[in-house]
Amino acid sequence: MVGDVSHPPLSAIPEDLRSLADYELRAAQHLTPEAWRHIQEGAGREITLYENRAAFDRIGLLPRAMADLDGGTRIELLGRSHASPILLAPIAYQRLAHPDGELAAVRAATALDTGMVVSTLASVTIEDIAAAAHSLGRELERPAAPLWFQLYLQPEREHSLQLVRRAEAAGYEAIVLTIDAALKPAGMTLPPGVDAVNLAGMPRPRQVSVPGGRILLGTPLTDAAPKWADLAWLRGVTTLPILVKGLVLGEDARRTVDEGADGLIVSNHGGRVLDGLPSAIELIQSVAEATQGRVPLLLDGGVRQGTDVVKALALGAAAVLVGRPQLHALAVAGMPGVAHMIHLMRTELEAAMAQLGCPSVAMLTPDRLVALGG
Ligand code: FNR
Repeated sequence: MVGDVSHPPLSAIPEDLRSLADYELRAAQHLTPEAWRHIQEGAGREITLYENRAAFDRIGLLPRAMADLDGGTRIELLGRSHASPILLAPIAYQRLAHPDGELAAVRAATALDTGMVVSTLASVTIEDIAAAAHSLGRELERPAAPLWFQLYLQPEREHSLQLVRRAEAAGYEAIVLTIDAALKPAGMTLPPGVDAVNLAGMPRPRQVSVPGGRILLGTPLTDAAPKWADLAWLRGVTTLPILVKGLVLGEDARRTVDEGADGLIVSNHGGRVLDGLPSAIELIQSVAEATQGRVPLLLDGGVRQGTDVVKALALGAAAVLVGRPQLHALAVAGMPGVAHMIHLMRTELEAAMAQLGCPSVAMLTPDRLVALGG
């Protein structure tokens, strides 16, 4: 962890950490108050942040009795096998939570054969992150974690292109274009030692408004926000699969696929951008209807336990991503913390599938769900 905190990361995992909720409770002690607030907060009155959890909790589960339980959690995604339908979401500045930051997270992902999406705003270079995955993979005699690179478009296309080329050269297997966060209020002031090292030498757009002048619309900040033409440009410059993250509407999803996207991530950015957006779990079915299985759909926002994954898959998601819990686990115990967090999620997922009588992900269908309290 970078900055002054009373509790450094633990070197062993205490027995009382048995769920992602336990990690979250514990993490506050291992983070500065500023970092804790930055990680936890949502936009506005946090209506969307609240909904991300509440919407999962409104869905009940209907098990099949006495089912045969031979199966597993392995899935195919964009031509690559994954141990389970759980991936690590792109999270900026992981050195806020632990001095090893993204290096610890990617080692945990590799140890657990879990996909990781690396942020443009990572606090370690994307080359070093990929190298850490490959070197642990070699040590363990198995492939490195599947790595995808999350792209925030830069004001100059040449800089976005540099990032894409670096990701390709470092062996990233897909580009995740995040479209929903260009117009987000500026975050916390970063402590020394934590920076967007991958953007070194590139200009950083900031909102500068003068009284009586333009506030946001028509300023350089809105000019730099992603447009449809940018997706077409990206499709033209890389042969890697492209996933678009931050979509909520079926109509937009259909157009995105028509324009060449290979996957979609239904997301409201963890409730951090537009307060009032519904949760991804509530929207996924309409996106699935609009896209008719043409590309895999992923979702994130509020995924905290195995039953959440089951619900998302039953409603049409191919996989889910986990955001804040990565930082909670990093802050508490670094690499072993993240590995344990992924293991907990996976154990809970298998238990939920077994208890539901659905031993394979293909058996998770909407008829296993029911609205609670209705
Ligand atoms: C994010 N998220 C994010 N998304 C992205 O595309 N690029 C990024 O750099 C970041 N950075 C980031 C930092 C922090 C502190 C948070 C909490 C979130 C959004 C993230 O990928 C994901 O959409 C949400 O975190 C999912 O919600 P949960 O799992 O945190 O509830």
